[in-house]
Amino acid sequence: MPKIVVINRAGEEQTVEVDAGLSVMEAIRDNGFDELLALCGGCCSCATCHVFIDPEFADKLPAMSEDENDLLDSSDYRNETSRLSCQVQVTSALEGLRVTIAPED
Ligand code: FES
Repeated sequence: MPKIVVINRAGEEQTVEVDAGLSVMEAIRDNGFDELLALCGGCCSCATCHVFIDPEFADKLPAMSEDENDLLDSSDYRNETSRLSCQVQVTSALEGLRVTIAPED
């Protein structure tokens, strides 16, 4: 099971084990981080699962869809490492990935 590191809004880190195939959003939510609202449940229509992803993993991430890109544009906190965590599936290639929960819009 891949492990990823989640950093909450207070800057606290927690390593979580994730079943491969789950999304980063599911991994965060299932491990008790209530800061990540993920209101649409992963349908790529709410942007409340916004995270910042370790740039070292940029080339291992799935390509961003137009919908994800448009939704991220609605956030005041978007930066070059922003992704919607429901759109990133955890695979063994992402072992050790560090994700930071973005501030609430
Ligand atoms: S959970 Fe709604 S866009 Fe990711």
